[in-house]
Amino acid sequence: MPQPVAVLGTGKIGEALLSGMIRAGWAPADLLVTTRRSERAAELRTRYGVDPVSNAEAAKQADTLILAVKPQDMGRLLEELAPHITPDRLVISAAAGITTSFIEEHLAAGTPVVRVMPNTPVLVDEGMSVISAGSQATAAHLAHAEEIFGAVGKTLRVPETQQDACTALSGSGPAYFFYLVEAMTDAGILLGLPRDKAHDLIVQAAIGAAVMLRDSGEHPVKLRENVTSPAGTTINAIRELENHGVRAALIAALEAARDRSRELASGNNS
Ligand SMILES: NC(=O)c1ccc[n+]([C@@H]2O[C@H](COP(=O)([O-])OP(=O)(O)OC[C@H]3O[C@@H](n4cnc5c(N)ncnc54)[C@H](OP(=O)(O)O)[C@@H]3O)[C@@H](O)[C@H]2O)c1
Repeated sequence: MPQPVAVLGTGKIGEALLSGMIRAGWAPADLLVTTRRSERAAELRTRYGVDPVSNAEAAKQADTLILAVKPQDMGRLLEELAPHITPDRLVISAAAGITTSFIEEHLAAGTPVVRVMPNTPVLVDEGMSVISAGSQATAAHLAHAEEIFGAVGKTLRVPETQQDACTALSGSGPAYFFYLVEAMTDAGILLGLPRDKAHDLIVQAAIGAAVMLRDSGEHPVKLRENVTSPAGTTINAIRELENHGVRAALIAALEAARDRSRELASGNNS
């Protein structure tokens, strides 16, 4: 028996998941999608051969519902879905800052809910999706969420209390690296390199460093020490980074991101 999975609100994250699942072997016939606009529905039908349906229809047909609308659209979507969702379904939310208890309150008692915080590299199958169980979700529900989000990168289980910290590190994480590349490219221009060459050099350094971090099993301190020779160039750069408090700035930045995530989760959108 097919166990259809429905993506409700198929925008950037929803489409990344959909395409990743199809590449990972899900049959388009077992995947349902919902959209707000008919042009978007037509686009997805053409691109992936999937069946765009209404939210109510998806809730009736699919065993697993992935909610991928913006956080501000979640309340309305849940109201629309509530009459059709029975506790034998699994509801997975990818919306930043929306707690499992908020979703559980809108649905029939006993409905299992899993919260997932992906990040934008899901668009290139290198995402990190941080997964937490709601009060009714079992190990099997978590494993199913991991199977789905594993199609677009890695997954990590954490207690929901750690989701705000993970949002600061992983959800916002790619932005810090983009920011670094931007700043380092400017530095390259200051040093007299053309922008495109500076960009290529920094991006490749970032990719090389990331692969070494992932594959070497070495601690980042060891990897940095390996390229920090006595009285060399790297140590002069590191001294300037320390003089300018970059380490302290990063710690403060991530703390600020964690605090903002907490505020958003408690309903403060201002
Ligand atoms: N993008 C990220 O980096 C990222 C990272 C982690 C988590 N997330 C979370 O993922 C969720 C989706 O983000 P996104 O960037 O993919 O946003 P998005 O591109 O705006 O996608 C949301 C989609 O949902 C559709 N939609 C809204 N209400 C709907 C409804 N009632 N029924 C059906 N479709 C509906 C929207 O339609 P329209 O096209 O008509 O607006 C849009 O296509 C958000 O909750 C966000 O917090 C995003």
